[in-house]
Amino acid sequence: MMKMLGSLIASAALILAPTGCGLSLKSSSSSKKAFPVTQVSAAVKGSDYQYTAQDVRILRDYLLNIPVDLDLRDKPYDLNGDKKWNAFDLTLMKHIMMEPEPDNDTLVIYFSRTGNTEKIAEYLIELTAADSYVIEALVPYTDDDIKYQDDNCRANKEQNDKTVRPGIANPIKSIDSYDTIFLGYPIWWGQEPRIIDTFLESYDFSDKTVIPFCTSGSSGIAASEKNIADLVPIGNPLKGRRFPASATKDDIKEWVDTLPLNNEKSEAKLLISVNGQELTASFADSTAAKELAEKLKAEPVTIALNEYGGFEKVGKLPWSLTRTDVNIETEPCDIMLYQGNQMTIFYNSHSWSYTKLGHIENTTQEALKALFGEGNITVTLSLK
Ligand SMILES: Cc1cc2nc3c(=O)[nH]c(=O)nc-3n(C[C@H](O)[C@H](O)[C@H](O)COP(=O)(O)O)c2cc1C
Repeated sequence: MMKMLGSLIASAALILAPTGCGLSLKSSSSSKKAFPVTQVSAAVKGSDYQYTAQDVRILRDYLLNIPVDLDLRDKPYDLNGDKKWNAFDLTLMKHIMMEPEPDNDTLVIYFSRTGNTEKIAEYLIELTAADSYVIEALVPYTDDDIKYQDDNCRANKEQNDKTVRPGIANPIKSIDSYDTIFLGYPIWWGQEPRIIDTFLESYDFSDKTVIPFCTSGSSGIAASEKNIADLVPIGNPLKGRRFPASATKDDIKEWVDTLPLNNEKSEAKLLISVNGQELTASFADSTAAKELAEKLKAEPVTIALNEYGGFEKVGKLPWSLTRTDVNIETEPCDIMLYQGNQMTIFYNSHSWSYTKLGHIENTTQEALKALFGEGNITVTLSLK
């Protein structure tokens, strides 16, 4: 795709000639035209129109002179306001779609080769008001590539080799600002396409809620869910759902309404009373943190924490919580679940396998060290 864009930009910009009955194309000789990307981008961002993967596809096909079976007259595809539709607009459109909205904590990510998963993703984006990101292959999958009746087609060869990692054309810069990720894909030979594995291995999901969804002829989602869980650490993996291509927006809504997605994480705080002082912590986005908050709703709990290793205080909880351990380098003020039934509060860094429970917000490393002292302590946990 980048190659194609490059050649489009370098060769001939396509001029949009508005006519009474539609749009037609002619070639322009002035191809190298500079324009202020940031200004233009900001102007378009100010408008209400939400560009989707479908818009990218329509504009791309239009620019490649592939017949588009739609009335394009009202489409806001002149993104840089130069009264033309050309490769610059396509580039800007992709930029805008890839830029994360800082105040949105949900992201719908999907790969779709023939549009079925895309349709479900678009319902989901609408229903959850999420940002979106489309995974596109660096080398696009042609129709021949996915002719699964042919043993030697590209998709079949890739699915037969778990180590294949097809390149991604437009990697999203970061997913750090998102807590909740919906991840959509078609089922290929009972599993997620290998490009999903490329994507998963490129980012850190250890503090994210991840919800897979897929479309297929009939196969279920279970095998791909297991593959994903085995591939990368995920903070809070939620059960996914398979949909047929014919699924409606109501079907998607019914599913979304059953998901344990809530705002408790941002609202509820963990109060830790120690030596007459109160520390306030945010909860992590892990199943264990949600379970801890639920337990503390019933009553506060007091636990003894022992000094360990010059970097933490650790003690037994009255219950076991769900482990989603990952190898992690802790930061001072992190609160971790250790071996499923112990809580650890760090005043120095340490690398080990933990499940994150939270992070103390209203103190510093030095103040925490001073408050904890050198010996064992007793803390009372409650909800704020
Ligand atoms: C290479 C390939 C393998 C497939 N394997 C399966 C499969 O194992 N089970 C199944 O039910 N459908 C299978 N399908 C059908 C797709 O999962 C289905 O058409 C899906 O909705 C396509 O999604 P998309 O339009 O988002 O690409 C396969 C399709 C392709 C191209």
